[in-house]
Amino acid sequence: MNILILGSGGREHALAWKISQSNKTENLYIAPGNAGTRDVGSNLPIDINDFSEVKRIVVEKDIDILVVGPEVPLVNGITDKFKNDPALKNVSIIGPSKTGAMLEGSKEFAKEFMYRHGIPTAAYRSFNAGNIDEGFQFLESLKAPYVLKADGLAAGKGVLILNDLELAKSELKSMIEQSKFGEASAKVVIEEFLDGIEISVFVLTDGKSYVILPEAKDYKRIGEGDTGLNTGGMGSVSPVSFATPEFMGKIEQQIIKPTINGLIKENIDYKGFIFFGLIKVDGEPYVIEYNCRMGDPEAESVIPRIKSDLVDAFIAVDKQTLHEYEMEFDHRHAAAIMLVSGGYPEAYEKSKIISGIENLSDCILFHAGTSKDINTNQVKTSGGRVIAVCSYGNTMEESLTTAYDKAKQIEFEGRYFRTDIGFDL
Ligand code: AMP
Ligand code: GLY
Repeated sequence: MNILILGSGGREHALAWKISQSNKTENLYIAPGNAGTRDVGSNLPIDINDFSEVKRIVVEKDIDILVVGPEVPLVNGITDKFKNDPALKNVSIIGPSKTGAMLEGSKEFAKEFMYRHGIPTAAYRSFNAGNIDEGFQFLESLKAPYVLKADGLAAGKGVLILNDLELAKSELKSMIEQSKFGEASAKVVIEEFLDGIEISVFVLTDGKSYVILPEAKDYKRIGEGDTGLNTGGMGSVSPVSFATPEFMGKIEQQIIKPTINGLIKENIDYKGFIFFGLIKVDGEPYVIEYNCRMGDPEAESVIPRIKSDLVDAFIAVDKQTLHEYEMEFDHRHAAAIMLVSGGYPEAYEKSKIISGIENLSDCILFHAGTSKDINTNQVKTSGGRVIAVCSYGNTMEESLTTAYDKAKQIEFEGRYFRTDIGFDL
């Protein structure tokens, strides 16, 4: 089969690494990809948010399966557009319909969906320019900290958690009236603060049934001990110690099943990954957010723990035969450490030469912000998050020790990584 993956991060390299191992894969393309994906497939330099460009490639390369890595093309409706195009109707797409993607694309939609289906989540109300005064009153009725969320996609930056009421009011005003997060914050969801520990849970669904993938924990803040600015993610571990069979059972019964049944009941087409961003409060799971894709950097520790052929799983998703499909997982632990550019998530320099990535054993390198200089054959940095180093171990500590040992051998000017991934487990 000919397979095209859209995206260019560590998640997409992890998907490409796995898909390239399937004997069903004839040709693997990654658009636009990075220096790492070149080693497992062919990179195609296109703008993945230009659907006519994507269509051109899909037709030209005779693509059978299109795997959409990031959320933006999904929220913009790539799946519906291709499914309604006679020239593309036979292409299997791993990624939900536009309505399905609204679980990530609109916080209000996701909250209303959860309420309709009795899925545990923080209490909330949403506000816009028409009722902003009620928003101020609602804030006054709550206790700190105040959680303000831009309704739409804001590249992971649209959530503010504030301790001061007056600041919360002025931020609400700036989100709604001064478009702090552009169109995305024309509507703002204000919700109850939940105090607990977070976990990322993933399913692959064909819209009728599902398989639960290994869970993971990611570390979003730039600084040790979860301090400082939010990033795209500084590392992940899988499995997660507090995800006991009992707790995972609660997640399945109270969250996963009602979500899948809700999609079925509401006739929402969904073939792809659902990422449940959860928080454990007093032993009970609550949904913080849905995402319509795999997590990044969670994919870099979850995908290495999938033993089964992922292409077979994707075929089962397309045929809606996932209920007959048994997926096998690796029981070892996996840890992924993200090496980032100095200064990230604020301004940072690019085009730094990366050394030490050849001949590293006992780890898998998933590239994110890298590119290859074809004149010199050198791999250089091209983004904030540069490379995730993933290692296995019989315990979390063992996987982390190996991953850190390898991470230290990779060098580029300004290289930074957190040394405390997994610290809270
Ligand atoms: P989101 O983009 O919805 O995942 O929110 C980003 C981060 O904000 C989450 O990963 C949580 O750490 C935090 N967060 C979001 N909603 C809440 C909430 N209701 N209570 C506590 N923390 C939250
Ligand atoms: N790691 C969080 C995300 O992918 O959104």
